[in-house]
Amino acid sequence: MGTAQHTLSGTDYTDPNVFARERDTILYREWFYVARADTIANAGQWLTVDIAGESILVIRGRDDRLRAFYNVCRHRGSLLCEGESGQAKSTIRCNYHAWCYDYDGALVATPKVEEGEVDPSQLALSPVHVDVWEGFLFVNLDRNKPRPLRDAIGENYDEPLAFERFNLGELAIGARTVNEVDANWKIVIENYNECLHCSTVHPELVEVMPLYRTGWVAEEGRTDGGTSLADGGTGYTQDGRSRLAVLPGRTDIEAHSVYGGTLYPNMFLDLAPTVAIATSILPISPTKTKIITEYLFHPDEIAKPDFDPSDVVNFSELVASQDYMVCQWVQRGVSSRAFTHGYLAEKDKYVAEFNNRYRADMARG
Ligand code: FES
Ligand SMILES: [Fe+2]
Repeated sequence: MGTAQHTLSGTDYTDPNVFARERDTILYREWFYVARADTIANAGQWLTVDIAGESILVIRGRDDRLRAFYNVCRHRGSLLCEGESGQAKSTIRCNYHAWCYDYDGALVATPKVEEGEVDPSQLALSPVHVDVWEGFLFVNLDRNKPRPLRDAIGENYDEPLAFERFNLGELAIGARTVNEVDANWKIVIENYNECLHCSTVHPELVEVMPLYRTGWVAEEGRTDGGTSLADGGTGYTQDGRSRLAVLPGRTDIEAHSVYGGTLYPNMFLDLAPTVAIATSILPISPTKTKIITEYLFHPDEIAKPDFDPSDVVNFSELVASQDYMVCQWVQRGVSSRAFTHGYLAEKDKYVAEFNNRYRADMARG
């Protein structure tokens, strides 16, 4: 017998009861990544996000503040805003009986309901916590006051607070993709956290990032967490070149390196010389996960008439599609009666970190 730590068990990836407990212990208690904050730039602009079955509405107020609420009407409980995003016209109006709410959640109109029947002051939308870090919008469904967002981000083993030096707040969305994967959300995170699979699954990626061939993700002798692109290239692209300018403020070594991190429980952040890639992982069911990827560039680059991010986006989506494929294989395998648990090798150490935190959170109840 070896010394390898065990993976999570088969039921952790398949059991609806486990999924239900994850909502209360993790998904509804941690800061959850939603989207870039400038997706809703104007007063009354809103978006919705489905967090494991809870629809959450985020809207920008007339005072420019972002607020988040359960997307549920206080009259008879209808879903309030339908769709992914929109622009409210003076109020948020329920499609069922037209109760209207101000952008701050206050109930301001109840058509055909007589005076005194209900007390509008008691019927504001139910709020949830919202905050922004470096232009990234998070919500938190904890009924108690959660620890500050930045503190929570600082707890991650990839130390994403170090990315604050890259001025990610000034970037803007140049492309966005949506994918659905038939795999548990934890399988998606575990796959991201190791590169033992890189040489078999990502032939194109290891050409551009030779270190990944070894299964290691951290370059020896480097303390900044970066991994070099081949031949001093700047492109996170199939040929390692990029037509886009390197993002401002990068040092020489940063201008040809890639950095990555997991922000527990549902975000990946990948930083290449010309692009920042933010991924939101949305658990839909024990066996289905939606993945939204935002490609961020410098606004000056996006404003150029010939701006074309397709080399970066196509390459990243190719690598991602290879990852989604193997995640689906794993989902099938761990669902088997033959699977009780697997084993984590030394090069799976970030998977072990994730599993340890997950177990501790689930044990906390
Ligand atoms: S349920 Fe929204 S107005 Fe009736
Ligand atoms: Fe991968």
